[in-house]
Amino acid sequence: MSTLRVLIGSEQIQSRIREMGAQIDRDLPTGPIYLIAILKGACFFLADLARAVKTPVRLEFMGISSYGRGKTSSGEVKVTKDLDVSVEGYDVIVVEDIVDSGVTLSYLVQLLKQRKPKSLRIATLLDKPTRRQRPVEVHYRGFEIPDEFVVGYGLDYAEDYRNLPDVCILSDL
Ligand code: IMP
Ligand code: MG
Repeated sequence: MSTLRVLIGSEQIQSRIREMGAQIDRDLPTGPIYLIAILKGACFFLADLARAVKTPVRLEFMGISSYGRGKTSSGEVKVTKDLDVSVEGYDVIVVEDIVDSGVTLSYLVQLLKQRKPKSLRIATLLDKPTRRQRPVEVHYRGFEIPDEFVVGYGLDYAEDYRNLPDVCILSDL
């Protein structure tokens, strides 16, 4: 039987996101900033982070699939939904739920650089640094977490658990 244990509670998440928003305001006071959320996991983080930022933002979404689902990504990445606009000359922040191996974001950063943004940064709610296979420069990091599989606040296991308000460790799968 699988069990859920709260790792980061919703109030802790919200207070950290307020700090991240303030940091973004200090770094990019003019805007508009394009916040590009990676579907679907980053949707709640995007919604809360966007409201924690005072600098004007615009919201965009990208869909990425990494082949071989389950608990790890396989290393092959494909864009399933691209941006609706050009971000050339704009400040861009990629908003992601979690950086694990780094495969997804290292691919995406290389792709978005070709779109010639004025600046390109990464904001991730969670980071599992011990799992990294490809280097990723993270500018805004909510929490470093241990090598455990987590769900909730947007993160799923086989599409379930995304709507849990807390980030929870899912074990005994
Ligand atoms: P990466 O390419 O290995 O860095 O994987 C990033 C993606 O894998 C994230 O956007 C998540 O969709 C998924 N992922 C990695 N770790 C977890 C986890 O602990 N829970 C849920 N999804 C995860
Ligand atoms: Mg994801």
